[in-house]
Amino acid sequence: MNINIEVNGKMITAKKGETILSAINRKGISVPTLCYMKDFVPTGACRMCVVEVEGRPNLITACSYPVEEGLRIKTHSPRVVNARKTIIELLLSNHPDDCLYCERNKNCELQTLAEQYNVRERRISGAKNLYKVDQSSASIYRDPAKCILCGRCVRVCEEVEQVTAIDFVGRGNKTIINSAFNKGLNVSSCVNCGQCIMVCPTGALHEIDHVEKVLSAINSNKYVVVQHAPSISVSIAEEFGLKPGTDVAGVMTAALRKIGFKKVFDTSFSADLTIMEESAELIQRIQTGGVLPMFTSCCPAWVKYVEEFRPDMIKNLSSCKSPQQMLGAVIKSYFAEIEGIDRENIYSVSIMPCTAKKFESQREEMTQKGVADIDAVLTTRELVKLIKMYDIDLVNIEPEVTDTPLGTRSSAGKLFGNSGGVMEAALRTAYYKLTGEELKNYKIDEIRGDDKRKELKVSVAGLNLGVAVVSGLTNAEELLKEIEAGRSDIQFIEVMTCPGGCVAGGGQPITFDAKRVKARMKSIYDIDKVDSIKASHQNPEIKEIYEKYFKEPNSEKSHHLLHTHYQKRNVLK
Ligand code: SF4
Ligand code: SF4
Ligand code: FES
Repeated sequence: MNINIEVNGKMITAKKGETILSAINRKGISVPTLCYMKDFVPTGACRMCVVEVEGRPNLITACSYPVEEGLRIKTHSPRVVNARKTIIELLLSNHPDDCLYCERNKNCELQTLAEQYNVRERRISGAKNLYKVDQSSASIYRDPAKCILCGRCVRVCEEVEQVTAIDFVGRGNKTIINSAFNKGLNVSSCVNCGQCIMVCPTGALHEIDHVEKVLSAINSNKYVVVQHAPSISVSIAEEFGLKPGTDVAGVMTAALRKIGFKKVFDTSFSADLTIMEESAELIQRIQTGGVLPMFTSCCPAWVKYVEEFRPDMIKNLSSCKSPQQMLGAVIKSYFAEIEGIDRENIYSVSIMPCTAKKFESQREEMTQKGVADIDAVLTTRELVKLIKMYDIDLVNIEPEVTDTPLGTRSSAGKLFGNSGGVMEAALRTAYYKLTGEELKNYKIDEIRGDDKRKELKVSVAGLNLGVAVVSGLTNAEELLKEIEAGRSDIQFIEVMTCPGGCVAGGGQPITFDAKRVKARMKSIYDIDKVDSIKASHQNPEIKEIYEKYFKEPNSEKSHHLLHTHYQKRNVLK
């Protein structure tokens, strides 16, 4: 049913049940928001979106107020603009004001609003927030002094990830966002996904910085190598004025060499390695009556979630390390041996779309004889910083190819960047292993795209296989409950913590434009469309590493280097 409302003197048609914000946005009219997030129930907490409605004594919040027939609204009356300006001034009254040094300088919603509303002097002075920063986490840096209490992080952590590691604590002007018992995030249930960073409007949340330690390593006599995850080459273009989703793999490789990395490897190579090991593990579990369904273990935030919240299901996790860690292990063993380099002198850096990978790299299980497989993890955002720091013109430099071995990939490995990509790659290789033939059509539509859950039933060589793909831990939890309730038609489940997969990871460029994430996803599918090596088992470097080193998937050597184990984790909840 349609409802007629008047906005700034013009009649517009709204839909029954929608909010004023939704109705005016559809007509191209904007009002500023802070606590509002699309697809979440509004809380009306910040009051930045207030509008004036004729006949109402108080200003009302457009994000939470439903349209009514005959409403006459002014979105930018002097009273409204003044109210918004006062809200901004109040938010700034106790803010640290260290914008020049702030991680979010020039990309901060509070800073943008202050400029937009011409807040150029301090009229309201409040006592500065003197909260301690929390740097206890391996992945997430929290600075409560910069927090404006919009609550977006709390809602994402609870509603998208079902973790609830952070919440409002205290009352009145003593309210802050904190983790359980005022202890650091490191002992909380935080799974390090970084989705809170992606929605924070200010510099209150960001990743733990690894840029400085990478620069120190490059400037030392260490042999510094780097790997980049499948989604990185399609995620950085937008930060350099190029069309979102443009694949810049070649120029990115050239840029990494200019920065000083001695070798540039591709994590999509070890995604192929993961597929070889994981598909063998799945087939073995099915044929020998092993624990099913098997869960993927590529996503370290998901693995930590299982350890904390679902320890009874640890046995369902694949024993495969993630592609980052597999490549880390291979660099400091196979690569070190063939190149004759002392593994202790190698400094291994990874570039990931993910903050949880920083945590994963520091896990005790990810070391060999006390030496970490990965020494530093840069997020996509940190890579962008590094490229800018070196004044590299990404648009005009000549593309280069990655180093071999460990730099050649199949397009199946590249698919790991999208939700459903691990599953699609695994099915391509599992089909080949079970039938001895290649799939006629490699593209598996049913598990593509960013739907929260995708399922497929396939019959291969007399084997009936049910598979599911979920992203977002709340969606994963729903599926776990179905399994607990007796669902037994699914044998293999891919879980990614970030909704849509790594293309929307917590380490990616911060944007609220869903089209950018879709462009990254499409770019990966486009690469798969044109590439000639479409399955992990076809990758010539994968064939070579098995011939020369691992012999076969799940061999003793591969178990030693490429597999691991997980255990129950006690945290403060
Ligand atoms: S990193 Fe993820 S789990 Fe941790 S507080 Fe942020 S949203 Fe919650
Ligand atoms: S930390 Fe950021 S997202 Fe969370 S409440 Fe504060 S300002 Fe909002
Ligand atoms: S955006 Fe509407 S109250 Fe915060």
